[in-house]
Amino acid sequence: MVKLSIMRCKQIDFRKQNDPAYRNLSKSLGVLDLTALGIGATIGTGIFVLTGIAAARYAGPAVVLSFVTSGFAAALAALVYAEMAAAVPSAGSAYTYAYVTLGEFLAWMVGWSLVLGYGVAAGAVASGWSAYLASLLAAARIYLPAGIMSSPAQGGIINLPAILLPLFMTYFLIRGARQGAVFNRVVVMIKLSVVLVFLAVGASRINPSNWQPFFPLGVLGAIKGAAVVFFAYIGFDAVATAAEEVKDPQRNLPVGIIASLGISTILYILVALVLTGLVSYKYLDTAAPIAQALLAAGIRWGSLLVSLGALAGLASVLFATIFAQSRILFAMARDGLLPSWLAAVHPVYQSPYRITIGVGLFVSLVGGFLPIATIAEMANIGILSAFFITSLAVLALEKKIPPEKLPFRTPFSPYLPVLSALVSAYLAFNLSRLTWIRFTVWLALGMVIYFGYGYKYSLLNQTNELSSARTQIRPVFKRRP
Ligand code: ALA
Repeated sequence: MVKLSIMRCKQIDFRKQNDPAYRNLSKSLGVLDLTALGIGATIGTGIFVLTGIAAARYAGPAVVLSFVTSGFAAALAALVYAEMAAAVPSAGSAYTYAYVTLGEFLAWMVGWSLVLGYGVAAGAVASGWSAYLASLLAAARIYLPAGIMSSPAQGGIINLPAILLPLFMTYFLIRGARQGAVFNRVVVMIKLSVVLVFLAVGASRINPSNWQPFFPLGVLGAIKGAAVVFFAYIGFDAVATAAEEVKDPQRNLPVGIIASLGISTILYILVALVLTGLVSYKYLDTAAPIAQALLAAGIRWGSLLVSLGALAGLASVLFATIFAQSRILFAMARDGLLPSWLAAVHPVYQSPYRITIGVGLFVSLVGGFLPIATIAEMANIGILSAFFITSLAVLALEKKIPPEKLPFRTPFSPYLPVLSALVSAYLAFNLSRLTWIRFTVWLALGMVIYFGYGYKYSLLNQTNELSSARTQIRPVFKRRP
């Protein structure tokens, strides 16, 4: 059977360490850094902002079950990612997993979906950060001009804080993952402390009647809510994109992925339970619902503290999502699917600085000019499609490599990866029609770029051309004396 060249696969190559293009990223991250990176990337706008929107518009108090449902989808994907990341530790994450198993075209499409997923997710986070900043300043009776605090769709001119924060993070990321990781650990500690304070203070003021009715819009409302709050789980996969900067990746990656997702899931379920018990879900459709619920319960100091913690928390999410997106683009450029000059590594800081700057600018523009709810859904569809393909990639991986040789194996394979693919697809189908239309346009644009550029300049294509040229040249050499 003739294999289409768009299905050409990269080899799983353990000689990478000797390849200068792979050698340059410094290997400095341990399991704690990874778990911090995962939690740093995960707990953010999803819990601090979207919980309120999902509860008020779709699920009511059953938003708790929305978190359980999307947490289940994320847990399945986490196990699948753990297997792939341990076998193929690469900065490209799902993009590279698809490249070594399902072929170049699907790999490109996954990478392209992730670019959308992380890029707009980071933009949504930057705009959530701006909302909490405004809420904190308002509590201190400081009011910045409305025109510079929100996007045009929300009645402003430009969301200036949402533009400046990504640029600040970009600076940290260019200085290298290690310095960034130290900063990230501190911020993650602050964020976790604030969530714990909210749980402790909020739990003492719960009014169980707020949980009635539990399903105001039925079970389907809770499922729609799950498709929205899935955003809260985006990020644990950022751990996988750090693969090339990790010490002992075969052990540390699965531990980092599973630990960060497990901790986040437990906290989400508890926060959703306490939040909907504290105030009626009807009042949660606001930009800073957790801070406002505490305010409504008369706990002003708690509200201020949560706003401060949310600012730190959202900053760490931004850090990790910009990190993840730049690593995926780095891997794509290194493979020739994007211009290779983009993959240049900084001579002093050893970070992919050109791509990081590009990503920082893109995120700034998204955060500065687009509304949060729309971009959060776009992020979900991008990441869910990557989860879907990665689940299929694991099945293909287990066909290529005998399962007993894999450093980490998904339990109950092949059933669990199949279930993971189905659950991701099901959640994606619960997103709005408009989101699907936008996503289709994005994929079409991706195809144009692939067939217009990547297909030709792909390193794999060049290598194939080279080897077929060699096969033709060889007989000529043989004839010479
Ligand atoms: N999971 C991340 C957040 O909720 C993207 O902000």
